[in-house]
Formats: sequence, C-alpha cells, structure tokens
Amino acid sequence: GLLVPSPSASSPSSSVILTQDELKKIAAYKAVEYVESGMVLGLGTGSTAKHAVARIGELLKQGKLKNIIGIPTSKMTHEQALSVGIPLSDLDSHPVIDLAIDGADEVDPYLNLVKGRGGSLLREKMIEGTCKKFIVIVDESKLVKYLGGSGLAMPVEIVPFCWKFTASRLQKLFQDSGCVAKLRTFGENDEPFVTDNGNYIVDLYFKTSIGDLKAASDSILQLPGVAEHGMFLDMATTVIVAGELGVTVKHK
Ligand code: 5RP
Repeated sequence: GLLVPSPSASSPSSSVILTQDELKKIAAYKAVEYVESGMVLGLGTGSTAKHAVARIGELLKQGKLKNIIGIPTSKMTHEQALSVGIPLSDLDSHPVIDLAIDGADEVDPYLNLVKGRGGSLLREKMIEGTCKKFIVIVDESKLVKYLGGSGLAMPVEIVPFCWKFTASRLQKLFQDSGCVAKLRTFGENDEPFVTDNGNYIVDLYFKTSIGDLKAASDSILQLPGVAEHGMFLDMATTVIVAGELGVTVKHK
C-alpha cells in the first residue's frame, strides 16, 4: 500500500515540535479508532502500546466501547489493562482474536518487523500471529531499510539451560553478517534478564544485512533451545507511523 496522509484531526501541526512519546501516543490513538465494541483484542507491550491500552480503558469508561475482551501479551500489560478496567482473558479461552495493536522496534518497507527489545516477543508472536488484523504503531524513528538495519538488537528468546552454547550457535549461524550474540542482562551485577516465560534473551547484532529473512527465521527456529525470535515476518496488516509531518497509515 501507499503512504497516505491521515485526515485525522490528531495530525500534528507543522509548527509544533512533538516529543517521541507524543508521536507514540498519536499513533496509538489512531489505531484505537479501529477498535469496535464486542471485539477480542490482542494488547501489546511497550511504551507505545501502553498508550493504546490506556485509551481503550478510557473509551470503555466513557461507554463509547462495550464488551471488549483483552488478551495481554505480557504480565506488565496484564497489570496495566486491569488497572484501566479492561476485562481480560487468554488464548486458551479466546483463540480467535479480532484485532491486535502493538509497537515494534523496526519496520521494513514490506511491513516486516523486529520486536522484543521489551522482552515480550514470545507471547506477542503467539497472540499476534493468530489475529485477524494486526495494527503496528510506531513513531517514524522505527522505520528501517532492512531488518537489523538500525544497528540495534535482534532478540531471540532461549531456554536458560546451557545458554552460552545456544548463544554461540546463534552467532555462528550469522557469522557471514558479522553477528555478535550477547545475553541480555540488567542491573549492576549483570543479572540475566528473565522473560515472563522464565527464559533468557540473546540479542543479535549484525554488521551487514542478514539477507533472506525467511531462511534466517527458519535456521534460528531449528536450533534446539530457541523458544522464539523477534522477526515478525508477514504478520502486520497495517502500520501506523506518527512523524513530525503527520500520521501515515500503511496497509499490507
Ligand atoms: C516488546 C516489543 C515492543 O513492542 C517494542 O519493543 C517497541 O517498544 P516501544 O513501544 O516501547 O518502543 O516488541 O517486546
């Protein structure tokens, strides 16, 4: 699809400089315009998705939305959704999801994504991989020419058992792209970051493009010990981008 300027009243005027968080909020509010009463909704994770969850809660309170069921993609979103009054369920009880809304770390020109810098990629992929419509909300800083092109991490969720072995196999898979695999840690003592599923995250950094994304995806998933990776290929149906010049809506 083409990039089309949104007619939305929320488009920023060119005389105002907006913060990145304000841009995230504009994209999120635009996405919530697609939500209808009675929908089962996949609720994303992160600083952009957070604005969408808050907005859905607000519309429920105002009675402008009714009978929404949220399927949260992380414990953090679960907490937030409860706090703003969104009734929640899970994939076991609600395997059919009408619409999911979530942020992304990178979006390529074909609407392929990198996700998971927030660490919720496995639940996000399970939920967003099954929904009828998946709207991705980003500020324009997330647009890249190719995945891995921001120089930032491509996350892979792995089981903790012998993680060094798995990390080194991941790094070897992409040695032609100058890949470096690093365990994600936090705090002063470099404790391993643990996901909602009790797993670790290995972040892959590439010097050059990894080429065929589908082949890369397949080879990562073939490694025993890997739970999931952060490439979301051919999953987004719509991407809403908020930039200084306004909101653009890109459809698959
Ligand atoms: C979490 C994600 C997030 O959607 C992604 O990291 C974007 O986050 P933010 O909206 O805070 O920039 O994939 O696993």
